[in-house]
Amino acid sequence: MATGKTFYIETFGCQMNAHDSEKVIGTLEQQGYAQVQDEAEADLLVYNTCSIRDKAEQKVFHRLNDYKKFYKSGKRFAVIGCVAQQEGERIFEKAPYVSLVAGSASYRKLPEMIARLEAGESRITGLDDRQTDETFETEFTSRQNPYRGYITIIEGCDKFCAYCVVPYTRGKERSRGSDSVLEEAKRIADLGYTEIQLLGQNVNSYKDSSGKLSFAELLAAVGQVPGIRRVRFTTSHPRDFTKDIVEAIDAYDTLCDHVHLPVQSGSSRVLRAMAREYTRDWYLERIAWMKSARRKISITTDIIVGFPGETPAEFEETVELLNEVQYDGVFGFKYSPRPNTPALVMIDSISEAEKSLRLQVLLDRQREIQRVNYDKHLGETLEVMVEGMNPTRGQVTGRSSQNKPVNFTTASPIAPAPGSYARVKVTKTFPNSLAGEAV
Ligand code: SAH
Ligand code: SF4
Ligand code: F3S
Repeated sequence: MATGKTFYIETFGCQMNAHDSEKVIGTLEQQGYAQVQDEAEADLLVYNTCSIRDKAEQKVFHRLNDYKKFYKSGKRFAVIGCVAQQEGERIFEKAPYVSLVAGSASYRKLPEMIARLEAGESRITGLDDRQTDETFETEFTSRQNPYRGYITIIEGCDKFCAYCVVPYTRGKERSRGSDSVLEEAKRIADLGYTEIQLLGQNVNSYKDSSGKLSFAELLAAVGQVPGIRRVRFTTSHPRDFTKDIVEAIDAYDTLCDHVHLPVQSGSSRVLRAMAREYTRDWYLERIAWMKSARRKISITTDIIVGFPGETPAEFEETVELLNEVQYDGVFGFKYSPRPNTPALVMIDSISEAEKSLRLQVLLDRQREIQRVNYDKHLGETLEVMVEGMNPTRGQVTGRSSQNKPVNFTTASPIAPAPGSYARVKVTKTFPNSLAGEAV
């Protein structure tokens, strides 16, 4: 193992990418590299990229442009993740100083690719593994989050929604074995973590590769790992959302009372055009299961406005859906045409200005809903997991089990450690956070 080699990594995109980076960092460290926080000090600059929307994709090319000056001083560049898989060898044309381009389905081969990089090769690719059945499992995960342990349980996606790049960038859907997942959960608990987040583009499409557990059974099993107090999972797909998930949340207090269930549109016509494989009614039935649960389950969603052909009346159906579900949070996006996707050839009939207007209408409505929802917590005492400090406000920051940000003051002069728990009485509410005092 050589010494003295350093790398810098920057990560864009979703939770899965963030966790992939934890595994890439662990792998590089195993290869004798030390992580540095400054590009100028690194021998190897790694960009783990996202191409979900056009803006996300542009970021990596801006970054590469900012730092290409370093190439002359001998630094090497690697582009990995979703833009890497999508653009492939075209990245070498756009940015000739890049030496390695690899998609997430090829990370198992990183040690070999790094060795070739060190041997002086300049156009190394890991792009041919999207049809693999294997998942990237490594014991060399360098966990960067001090209070939340991530576990990927399913990789890739087979849903092929009309607007989405993920099936092309992450490849075929493949699940890990539940034994291996549970072993990792125990290792995380042994490290002192009390919160686990299970990850997958469609986490609830999980099919145990050892055939033992359903997704809901896996949730319950992770929730019973000694030492684990909170289990989260993201993202759930409405098509595969089954009632036993709600029953598991009701049965095990360690399973957080929060479900992120992206709907994308409130119009069944638009959902069909998006190839989402469910209708508005199908979706609302799942919402009804959650609303009739014993515990109060917080529900959040993702919405795309301005999908090709979305009429004003169909957009109105989405706004109506917000009124009906009363979400605790909505991530709204303007439709962004993406390479390789079926929607690309649909006429993108809605102007940028109209998309912006619809997004604003949506978010304004949602803000009012959240103001009311968050206000209901006034006077409650909640269990909060500490995440950090906001020194300017003199507040401790954390989250409730429902994943709501809670900022609070404490009588103790010593700030509580990230990952510890506090009981907080809510004294003030906002549309996106709660404030209170430790009791
Ligand atoms: N697997 C998850 C979503 C992953 S991508 C699911 O199926 O729900 C995260 C979010 O990005 C999506 O929910 C969607 O709202 C948004 N998104 C994906 N592709 C997009 C595109 N081409 N334009 C705008 N938003 C998009
Ligand atoms: Fe994309 Fe659809 Fe797969 Fe989600 S389910 S990752 S939106 S293709
Ligand atoms: Fe982006 Fe890839 Fe995640 S496109 S959102 S990093 S799966």
